[in-house]
Amino acid sequence: MITLRWTITPLLLYLLSSATSSPVSISTSAPPLLSQISPPSPVPTILPSPPSPSLSAPPPTINQAELTEKAKCPLTMSPSTLVVRFGDPVTVNCSLRTLGFPLLGWEVSLASPAPTEGHFLVWSVDKMTEWSINPMCWALTDQGGQCDINLPLIVFKPPDSVTLSLLNHTGPMMEGNEYTLQCTVQGVAPAEKLSVTFYRGQTALVQTRTSNNTEKEPVNETLTWIITPSKEDDGAEYWCEATLKLGPEGPRHPPVVKSKRLTATVLYGPQIDCPPKLRVKEGESLECAVRGNPQPLVTWFRDGEAVALPAHSNREHAGYYTVSAKGLREKNLTVMVEVLPGGGAANSYNRCFLLAVLLFQTLHWL
Ligand SMILES: *[C@@H]1O[C@H](CO)[C@@H](O)[C@H](O)[C@H]1NC(C)=O
Ligand SMILES: *[C@@H]1O[C@H](CO)[C@@H](O)[C@H](O)[C@H]1NC(C)=O
Ligand SMILES: *[C@@H]1O[C@H](CO)[C@@H](O)[C@H](O)[C@H]1NC(C)=O
Ligand SMILES: *[C@@H]1O[C@H](CO)[C@@H](O)[C@H](O)[C@H]1NC(C)=O
Ligand SMILES: *[C@@H]1O[C@H](CO)[C@@H](O)[C@H](O)[C@H]1NC(C)=O
Repeated sequence: MITLRWTITPLLLYLLSSATSSPVSISTSAPPLLSQISPPSPVPTILPSPPSPSLSAPPPTINQAELTEKAKCPLTMSPSTLVVRFGDPVTVNCSLRTLGFPLLGWEVSLASPAPTEGHFLVWSVDKMTEWSINPMCWALTDQGGQCDINLPLIVFKPPDSVTLSLLNHTGPMMEGNEYTLQCTVQGVAPAEKLSVTFYRGQTALVQTRTSNNTEKEPVNETLTWIITPSKEDDGAEYWCEATLKLGPEGPRHPPVVKSKRLTATVLYGPQIDCPPKLRVKEGESLECAVRGNPQPLVTWFRDGEAVALPAHSNREHAGYYTVSAKGLREKNLTVMVEVLPGGGAANSYNRCFLLAVLLFQTLHWL
């Protein structure tokens, strides 16, 4: 059981990490690209005319033409991408690298500053109070053309709570049955960046990502993991941990919220640890380890009759016995008891003899 678990876990982690790595790269690269390409951002009212396409070269495709225009756009943002906690302040400086652009402005749904004729314009917010915000900085050319750049911005919020429970189950679990651990993360944003890890004690069982939920506002997410408890899991503590993977632009210590621990009670057994042939030395007691949850009630039978086990066995105790254990189920095991001639006394004689020889030799050397 233990070896199986150890071979399966790394494989699962590998599979999951490879499965999750591709959505990560897609989701991080896709939004900026999309927003750069998407044309329908409303033109600021001050603009005299929409951007005029270049006359000399007919654009092969809109995308390429726009990308070329981006490359020529002499705007710089500092910082160039932003990860901000909901409610925190934001300050971004958009500046021109070259002259010849008479007007510079921000297009943003929150605290948009008035356009300037200067070479930089700062967008500043005391408290970020929007979840989905796409700030854009634009510049107007002498010819009436426009160029703009977008600010990739992630607004995040750590979860209000993280709880671990068993799906549709309360009370003790049965060994060998399947159960679903359910990690509920409440009030987290953005869902796309959420990662949940299930633990048993200090060991990570699996790290999973959320569905492709693109909601920017706080959501409740539930992730599940199926376990098949064995007797070794009786008393084990399960828990889960929610992390927002915000990348290098995110906070130095990414938000992590842990659930409370859920102590597993696993019913199993009885398990009778007794060899079919039980050898005891004369004078020693006869016993077998019986384990189980609930604690099994053990009765020994000899020739169909319940017997008390001898504390000091002698040769008359040899024979066939039935160990009957009543716990979660009833289990019987027949064992043959062999009583070996008392070795205890002989052993102590030998030890005395050895000691005497050592003592004699020591005296001899002195
Ligand atoms: C904005 O950036 C420009 C160019 O780097 C710089 O000259 C200007 O001082 C910056 N403004 C602020 C308020 O940081
Ligand atoms: C859990 O219980 C609910 C309601 O009792 C039921 O609708 C749902 O199908 C159950 N889920 C599973 C996985 O058994
Ligand atoms: C992810 O999105 C695709 C397309 O929108 C959808 O078909 C799929 O069911 C989604 N997956 C999950 C796990 O929600
Ligand atoms: C998340 O769950 C809480 C508690 O059940 C509820 O009050 C809240 O409305 C839920 N939020 C969403 C976005 O479903
Ligand atoms: C176990 O052995 C006892 C004594 O021989 C007997 O009464 C009982 O029925 C047996 N139980 C099972 C499950 O075999």
